[in-house]
Amino acid sequence: MQKLKVLSVFGTRPEAIKMAPVIMKLQQQSDLFISIICVTAQHREMLDQVLELFNIKPDIDLDIMKHNQDLWSLTSDVLLKMKDIYQNINPDIVLVHGDTTTTFAASLSAFYSKTPIGHVEAGLRTFNRYYPFPEEINRVITDALSSFYFAPTDRAVENLQKSGITNGIHKTGNTVIDALIHTVDNHAYNLAQLGLNPGLKTILLTSHRRENFGEPLHNICKAVKVLVEQNKDIQVVYPVHKNPNVQSTVYSELNNTDRVLLIDPLNYVPFVNLMKSSYIILTDSGGVQEEAPSLGKPVLVLRDTTERPEAIESGTVKLAGSNTDKIVKNTQLLLDSDYEYEKMAKAVNPYGDGLAAERIVNVLKEQLLIPLY
Ligand code: UD1
Ligand code: UDP
Repeated sequence: MQKLKVLSVFGTRPEAIKMAPVIMKLQQQSDLFISIICVTAQHREMLDQVLELFNIKPDIDLDIMKHNQDLWSLTSDVLLKMKDIYQNINPDIVLVHGDTTTTFAASLSAFYSKTPIGHVEAGLRTFNRYYPFPEEINRVITDALSSFYFAPTDRAVENLQKSGITNGIHKTGNTVIDALIHTVDNHAYNLAQLGLNPGLKTILLTSHRRENFGEPLHNICKAVKVLVEQNKDIQVVYPVHKNPNVQSTVYSELNNTDRVLLIDPLNYVPFVNLMKSSYIILTDSGGVQEEAPSLGKPVLVLRDTTERPEAIESGTVKLAGSNTDKIVKNTQLLLDSDYEYEKMAKAVNPYGDGLAAERIVNVLKEQLLIPLY
């Protein structure tokens, strides 16, 4: 039997974390698959942190990141550079992940090359084209171009079906839970190295979404100042995303604020350990919304909508938006009321069971027996 040539393409930190389990499974079955890895390096340092941790060695590195890049140059760089890659490698299938510009542009380029696409984490939707921007439309287009849909949840399956897709949908769970379990099981980390005070309750904050740039991020920072002022027993730790739009606002608002620790983005191992030791998590991250519920941590989402409603329905995640008063009120409630805290701090796992990558690779195995197009 001929081996299946699988090209995995990704470019940012979360894509790398969520593709790592799939790549590891493909590599374990080298009798069946030729696994080729292409990174666009839409992110550089934040991608390299993950590649090193999971020992992923890209076969191709497009190295496209530019300082403060815009969507037009990013899209055209990926679209054009991937053309040559598809023509030279001629893969049987390309795997992309999620909703970044790498994902969308690499998928369009694959479609032009008539390469079948498998979309990992397919079917997430807010049904609002500007929230999140540009990710909602990136994932809609990627799904329209794909042939295989690895949907993490029932909701994602329904979203795909409602959009008229009838073939190729597989419910797999989210590979982020595979990555999380692997990391929690295999890597400990001493958080004292970060400079946190062990006598204080830790609130972990991350925010990087484009729709929060400017006024909303200022409001989030103001909420942090009010919270540390009102509560002398808390500290806030914020691994600040490298996007210059985030860095400039956060450092100008929060630098040198008592009990607010601004640090560089953390490698996945310390970050997972920090999530585990935090009391509350405030975030606009997609991945963190999926990971924190399985660690039993209450999450307040710094957005007005989410494409991940499952944990809201389970009660561990709440939408807090980007209004200063609303963020303060919701956080203060969790700090003041054990009842409210315990209601949210339960471990639930609506996003996966750690076996998503295996299911994805099993679907690919079936393709060894039938032609892809
Ligand atoms: C991107 C994705 C977003 C995802 C996020 C994950 C798009 C349009 N956005 O947003 O969906 O949630 O990644 O973090 O695909 N930078 C560095 N080093 C790095 C990474 C970024 O310096 O390792 C700086 C660069 O100046 C770069 C800028 O951040 O130009 C923006 O990076 P970009 O990937 O365009 O946007 P993100 O905000 O990271
Ligand atoms: N993460 C990390 N270090 C950090 C912040 C986040 O390793 O300093 C991980 C986090 O655990 C999750 C992923 O990065 O798996 C989320 O990435 P991000 O928030 O950048 O993107 P999103 O998920 O919103 O697209």
